[in-house]
Amino acid sequence: MRKKLIAANWKMHLVPGEARALIAALMADLGRETFTDREVLVAPAAILIPEVKDALKQSPIMLGAQNMFYEEKGAFTGEISPTMLAAYGVTHVIIGHSERRHIFGESDEMIGLKVRAALDHRMTPIMCVGETQEEHDSGRALEVVLRQMEGGLGSLSSDEAGGIVMAYEPVWAIGTGRTATPEQAESIHGAIRGAFNERFGHSPAQIVRILYGGSVNADNVDSLLSRPDIDGALVGGASLKADSFARIVRARTAK
Ligand code: PGA
Repeated sequence: MRKKLIAANWKMHLVPGEARALIAALMADLGRETFTDREVLVAPAAILIPEVKDALKQSPIMLGAQNMFYEEKGAFTGEISPTMLAAYGVTHVIIGHSERRHIFGESDEMIGLKVRAALDHRMTPIMCVGETQEEHDSGRALEVVLRQMEGGLGSLSSDEAGGIVMAYEPVWAIGTGRTATPEQAESIHGAIRGAFNERFGHSPAQIVRILYGGSVNADNVDSLLSRPDIDGALVGGASLKADSFARIVRARTAK
């Protein structure tokens, strides 16, 4: 059985004191609950990583990053390397988030290089795919998602493929309060798993975890996570409040 993964994407929010308070409140809310069927991750802004790492001591919550560059070092002003993230104990890196694609112009090719670099530094990429409103309206959602997958995952071996995390995040659902219905999400998740099957084989397709992201909140998480191909959530806005994120972490699932 695939473990669920509930991941918080804090985006460009919080200063150190707020981050510490949010982690403390989250840990107080979740208490000593141990979940055997799910994992929890927070991805703060890069500058908060040392603070959050410290605040998470003795917590099972894992530490992620929201982005990174693919080179190890060099003249890349303003960038952060995989080596730097790994040195802080970061285990997961969100790659190809739609805000990176659409605001910062990241291409499928660049995203592929970043996925490769994360794996080469023993971090798990959480690779995001998802169609825009216009692509959705013109019935091209699946075509876009499959193209983004091909670009991002071109360098992976079958052994590597099962260990990554995918996140389906329709752009029209991010930060808008409009969530994909569980049926819509399940259909794309099934197609992503099918593409893994074709490209990498049966076993990686069964192991790979596919998260849903886009206006996930305490009220809709149960219905999303009860679908068999939805293996967790990537949560933006609702991860910034301890009570709502703790409720999402406790989502009821089918299995
Ligand atoms: P949202 O963001 O939950 O605020 O819609 C999700 C994401 O962008 O990862």
